[in-house]
Amino acid sequence: MTGRYAADHQRSMNDPNGYWGDAAQDIVWIEPFKKVLDDANPPFYRWFTGGVVNTCYNALDRHVESGRAEQAALIYDSPVTNTKATYSYRQLRDAVALFAGVLADLGVAKGDRVILYMPMVPEAAIAMLACARLGAVHSVVFGGFAANELATRINDAKPKVIVSASCGIEVAKVIPYKHLLDGAIDMATHKPDHCVILQRPMEKASMVAGRDVDWAEAVAKAKPADCVPVAATDPLYILYTSGTTGQPKGVVRDNGGHMVALKKSMKTVYDMDPGDVFWAASDVGWVVGHSYIVYAPLLQGCTTLLYEGKPVGTPDAGAFWRVISEHKVKALFTAPTAFRAIKRDDPNAEFLKKYDMSCFKTLFLAGERCDPDTLNWAETHMKVPVIDHWWQTETGWAICANPMGLERFPVKPGSPTKAVPGWNVQVLDEAHHPAKPGQVGALVMKLPLPPGSLPTLLNADERYIQSYLEEFPGFYKTGDAGFIDEDGYVYVMSRTDDIINVAGHRLSTGGMEEVLASHPDVAECAVIGVADQLKGQLPLGFVVLKAGVAKPHNEIVKEIVALVRDRIGPVAAFKTALVVKRLPKTRSGKILRGTMQKIADQQEYKMPATIDDPAILGEIDEALTIVGYAHGRKE
Ligand code: COA
Ligand code: AMP
Repeated sequence: MTGRYAADHQRSMNDPNGYWGDAAQDIVWIEPFKKVLDDANPPFYRWFTGGVVNTCYNALDRHVESGRAEQAALIYDSPVTNTKATYSYRQLRDAVALFAGVLADLGVAKGDRVILYMPMVPEAAIAMLACARLGAVHSVVFGGFAANELATRINDAKPKVIVSASCGIEVAKVIPYKHLLDGAIDMATHKPDHCVILQRPMEKASMVAGRDVDWAEAVAKAKPADCVPVAATDPLYILYTSGTTGQPKGVVRDNGGHMVALKKSMKTVYDMDPGDVFWAASDVGWVVGHSYIVYAPLLQGCTTLLYEGKPVGTPDAGAFWRVISEHKVKALFTAPTAFRAIKRDDPNAEFLKKYDMSCFKTLFLAGERCDPDTLNWAETHMKVPVIDHWWQTETGWAICANPMGLERFPVKPGSPTKAVPGWNVQVLDEAHHPAKPGQVGALVMKLPLPPGSLPTLLNADERYIQSYLEEFPGFYKTGDAGFIDEDGYVYVMSRTDDIINVAGHRLSTGGMEEVLASHPDVAECAVIGVADQLKGQLPLGFVVLKAGVAKPHNEIVKEIVALVRDRIGPVAAFKTALVVKRLPKTRSGKILRGTMQKIADQQEYKMPATIDDPAILGEIDEALTIVGYAHGRKE
């Protein structure tokens, strides 16, 4: 803690070339970059053009060559399979090089896409790094998504190869993956040449002759592959995230800027030095998993922890403390919902007393708004700084944080503190003017965004502009609303679009509405996010039935709940829908989702001036009361 924040932030704003050019010295370049910030083609900014590099080399080989060969690179801790394993940097490099050899034998080369549909096993990280080694572009699809979502991503990314496993494990449930993979490939118009399947002992996947390859057999025959030089601006990965429709956005990440930003963030934001043990309790299917389970800790020469389990139930609410004390974790990064789950099961943190937590220095929370209760509970019991920080799939690393490696600011509950050096965060009002301190508006970042953030969306430059850059010219729109106080603390209050946040997972209500609307009995529908004590938000559907539908309502509700699970996946946590006679709308026909949500959450709401028929709100209130949501309060 050196109190360097103001000077660093100022330099990153006034002299981005100097600031990021210096940070780039921490990366091993095959050929040096010619430009730090390349602004020749706005709004498509590029970082480190002319540079040639390899991300896998910087994450693994570099450390093997410079004295970390025997240090633990990755610890796998899986209470659901009763397995623990440690890979040294040398072992991980060798495993990655061999699997890169497998992919190369299957025809994967620089620029080819590879989809990974994997549970939380070391092979997921190995496959990601193997792609990086070959200059191939991985796209990891979260295991909780259904076949249809996987098919959408296959069609967009057009992978040459898909890597998957026979199953995932959710607490005590074995979740077979192979029928989902086969179903997705059947549905997709693009077909991969091959699938590599990791057979796990708890479930044997059937193989498609000629297409499917067994992971273990292929590795046994493979020869290690070397790192392939790529341009700093070449894509490292694509990660799909929810937009406002059912078509997810393929966020593209480059190689050079991503490495520079992530490595720097390990010290600036997380205060992690080489050799420290870092644990991001997330999933490789999310951006947190990409950035802070796989790439950043390895780039920094840390030990990363890959945990296949839950905060509770595997086996109890002391699971996180066991992992921290057993593996000497210095910092944990997870979502507030994980702590809400622990607090619910063990309100007085009795389990914590069983473990020596002296190694543990900081808890980082992100992924959703951190409610002050959770923050206070964690601070009280863990007795370490609890750092809320704010970021998005698109940004790849923290926009706002209490930058533990630079300066420690007093925590203000409800705020992820200040803009991290590199980010110019502002609040704009409806007229696009800068908001006053304390005034809520759209949270935006002045362009160009720093390295590591998305350069564009895959196959969709226009959508990139339209989704993020069009509304506030010269700025990137985060889709979050909030304010900045007199001390420069940023507060992130809510989304300005139809995205909801369920257990730290970002989901599109628009995507769910598309599924509901496809039910043959549904004439009209709306999905809103309602407050939930554990998961932050839960989706709730409203459907208006077609005239003459005689089927019992509870049957229709069951069918649409099953439809969302089948089309989007269990991760949507869509469990409830209400059949209503009509939906509240403006006179121009826009559904008043915001007002419905306020009623469900018992917040004050104003009768919208443009409402078509105010009586409908009473009907909605009544329907909500029946399923346990209390009355909204009209101002
Ligand atoms: N593969 C298959 N199914 C999955 C899955 C995966 N990788 N991940 C989740 N699911 C399933 C769950 O089994 C559950 O299914 P169910 O409806 O049959 O019970 C459903 O998807 C919802 O999962 P989840 O939202 O995780 O709820 P949960 O009740 O199982 O657990 C928490 C609740 C709070 C314990 C859990 O969400 C959690 O640990 N969150 C940590 C935060 C986190 O990882 N955030 C990511 C961003 S940092
Ligand atoms: P994702 O892209 O899945 O990481 O989700 C990003 C979104 O999660 C952001 O746009 C916010 O809406 C929300 N979010 C992430 N971190 C925070 C935080 N610390 N506080 C409030 N909201 C957050």
